[in-house]
Amino acid sequence: MTQTPVIAVDGGAASGKSSTSRRLAARFNLMHVDTGSHYRAVTFALVQAGVSPGDAAAIQSHLKGLKLGEQIDGQSARICIDGQVPREEDIRSEAVNAAVSPFAAVPEVRQFLYQYQRSQAAVAARAGFNGLIMEGRDIGSVIFPDAPLRFFLEADEATRAARRAREGQTDSIAERDRIDSSRKTAPLRCPEGAQRVDTSHLTLDEVVDLLAEAIEQTTGLSPVVA
Ligand code: CDP
Ligand code: CDP
Ligand code: CDP
Repeated sequence: MTQTPVIAVDGGAASGKSSTSRRLAARFNLMHVDTGSHYRAVTFALVQAGVSPGDAAAIQSHLKGLKLGEQIDGQSARICIDGQVPREEDIRSEAVNAAVSPFAAVPEVRQFLYQYQRSQAAVAARAGFNGLIMEGRDIGSVIFPDAPLRFFLEADEATRAARRAREGQTDSIAERDRIDSSRKTAPLRCPEGAQRVDTSHLTLDEVVDLLAEAIEQTTGLSPVVA
């Protein structure tokens, strides 16, 4: 069986993962998956259930009852929990911003999403996309360490804080990055062999063009739109 090409995009908060991945998905007709939304959706469900990040047994027993699926919406596959796509206002709330990194550090939570995230390559192939572009913190290190292309986006802290402020967000990205980088399971770091791209002084167009060139060269995919 020919494997669906997988492109992994990792990086800290506001490094440019989502905007870059969406543009590349459109350019090459790839299915786009934002795994941050998976952690946010699971965090929302656990917070709603009154479970705390310190209670691994309660986390595991609650997660066991949840059924995961996806809904394809244009270029993006969105996670469904028990048949519902979680609402954006719920998963991007202040409460979830504060709780997501502590929950994402729990091995049982990561284990719960592992097979689901890997299964998205087959979902992309079945749905007729030319490949999968998946963004997160551990896609190139844990989920698809064997992907033909793995990128690690970076930007200095002042640039990232300015980008978030422009979006009107007050979320403490430095604190999330600190927790994400220092956790034991799947910490945020540039995986060996991945292409590191500093986006601090690059426009979105420049980052997209840089990655697009690598995608054309490595996977042989051609742009479907300019
Ligand atoms: O959009 P932003 O970069 O701010 O964050 P996100 O991608 O929505 O991710 C939210 C949180 O989920 C991160 O801060 C991590 O704690 C967690 N996450 C993770 O642990 N592993 C991933 N592959 C993706 C996200
Ligand atoms: O997904 P992630 O949190 O890594 O970042 P994003 O949501 O793609 O980007 C955060 C903000 O930075 C957005 O408003 C982007 O338009 C902006 N951005 C930028 O100004 N220059 C770039 N090279 C990449 C993103
Ligand atoms: O480890 P697990 O059995 O979950 O995964 P697998 O059967 O090795 O691969 C799951 C899906 O990911 C299959 O559709 C593979 O074709 C695909 N895959 C991929 O497209 N690119 C990779 N680099 C690795 C796996």
